[in-house]
Amino acid sequence: MKSKRTSLVHLIYFSRLTLSNDPALRAKQIGDITRHAQKKNEFAVITSFLIVDQNFAIQVIEGERQSVNETFQRIAADSRHRDVQIVEWREIAKREFVSSFTTVSRNTANEPHFAKSGLLPMLQRGTPKGSVIHGLAVTLQEESMAKQGIDHLFV
Ligand SMILES: Cc1cc2nc3c(=O)[nH]c(=O)nc-3n(C[C@H](O)[C@H](O)[C@H](O)COP(=O)(O)O)c2cc1C
Repeated sequence: MKSKRTSLVHLIYFSRLTLSNDPALRAKQIGDITRHAQKKNEFAVITSFLIVDQNFAIQVIEGERQSVNETFQRIAADSRHRDVQIVEWREIAKREFVSSFTTVSRNTANEPHFAKSGLLPMLQRGTPKGSVIHGLAVTLQEESMAKQGIDHLFV
């Protein structure tokens, strides 16, 4: 008998971070979120990618439908960000992201990818496209994996 895989979905949302403007404190706050989310996502078999651009947080969450819904309920109730808005929620054939929780912030090294995507103006207008977020996240992941010498997975 053919075994049926449980249904995989991805959820993409964006929000406005309410973290400190002090770079050191902010880095610590993002570190706290990362450590906790990594553990929780591993347990729930969630893979995810979080992009931080200025005060915008943009996250792709992948996994089994129920796990993604439960995780998102918790995230949406977190006071470290506000105005949490879902951009896209749909079934996917396979996962695109390899780790339980990776965060990439806009910086001088990855600036060209952010600029080329045109995501920031879309966020400022409040109408980011799921395909643009997804494309940027995949590009940033590829770049970070290539730096670690794991680019053969993505040919
Ligand atoms: C921008 C942002 C992204 C987050 N992403 C995740 C996530 O992917 N998984 C997760 O479990 N928690 C995530 N969190 C943390 C949750 O909002 C929440 O604090 C945590 O899941 C609660 O865990 P607890 O039930 O152990 O207290 C995120 C928080 C923020 C602000």
